[in-house]
Amino acid sequence: MSAQSSPRMRVSAFAPASIGNVSLGFDILGAALKPIDGTQLGDVVSVESADEFALDVVGRFAHKLPGAVSDNIVAHAYHFFADKMQQQGLDCPAVKMQLSKNLPIGSGLGSSASSIVAALDALNQFFDSPFDADSLLLMMGELEGQISGSIHYDNVAPCYLGGMTLMVEQGDKVATQLPVFDNWYWVSCYSGLSVSTAAARNILPKSVSMADTIKFGRQLGVFVDALHRQDQALAAAMMTDVIAEPYRKSLLPGFDESRTFAMQHGALAFGISGSGPTVFAVTNNLADAQQIQQYLADNYIQNDDGFSHICNLDLNGSTVVKG
Ligand code: HSE
Repeated sequence: MSAQSSPRMRVSAFAPASIGNVSLGFDILGAALKPIDGTQLGDVVSVESADEFALDVVGRFAHKLPGAVSDNIVAHAYHFFADKMQQQGLDCPAVKMQLSKNLPIGSGLGSSASSIVAALDALNQFFDSPFDADSLLLMMGELEGQISGSIHYDNVAPCYLGGMTLMVEQGDKVATQLPVFDNWYWVSCYSGLSVSTAAARNILPKSVSMADTIKFGRQLGVFVDALHRQDQALAAAMMTDVIAEPYRKSLLPGFDESRTFAMQHGALAFGISGSGPTVFAVTNNLADAQQIQQYLADNYIQNDDGFSHICNLDLNGSTVVKG
């Protein structure tokens, strides 16, 4: 079998930023973000026919990517995808790809996941969907694991599927989408510093106490139940992090002060986005979100690379345009 595409067809995929962990679900809970002002917060990857493989990298954070373009995760994604197609007995002709690198690396916004998801979703659509969603998600997790040192789906799953996702990892089912609160605002603020996920994982202890294990399980169970029953106060009360935040916050200048301000000004919850340094605050009204965003913009941002957005959850996840 061979998969053929029209020579003139171009496919582009947008994959949104995401919050890994969402405080209470280390490695197994994630949420996709959509700024309410219409900003496209996420990477875009396009694919078109070519005689040989080529990758072009553009965008606000392109200059921050380490190494040669040939080492970029999008180039890895193409070769990985081509190998998987060949394992299925399918040809994978050469393509020209372009990455618009709109998310900063080492930010806690699921930057690598966004590139991976956009690349694999665009490639899959370009070649007329040789892989189903679950297979593609497994491939996304495998690639993400190559970067961060261990396979975890809490960025790639929400980025690809949208909304808030809980990892299932049972049989072929990688993740499931949870109910959400339509009236919650997610204020996200990137400080401008870079924190490597691998380094932020290395500072965590290798084991967790019995008391924290029980709290982690209770919080996650009660949170999911509260989402299904739409009990906002109970859900928000469960959003604390007993696994990573106590250790990682030492990497985040201004974290404690930001949490204190947010919680005193209407935040329902506050935490580290993924492995940081981005932080997030949850509110159920826009005025509180705006006040907290202003504080974070004035106090948590450390340099010109930083930014902050008031977001809803992105319920669409990765979106593909054929042209
Ligand atoms: N769950 C991961 C971590 C997310 O916290 O290390 C990193 O993107």
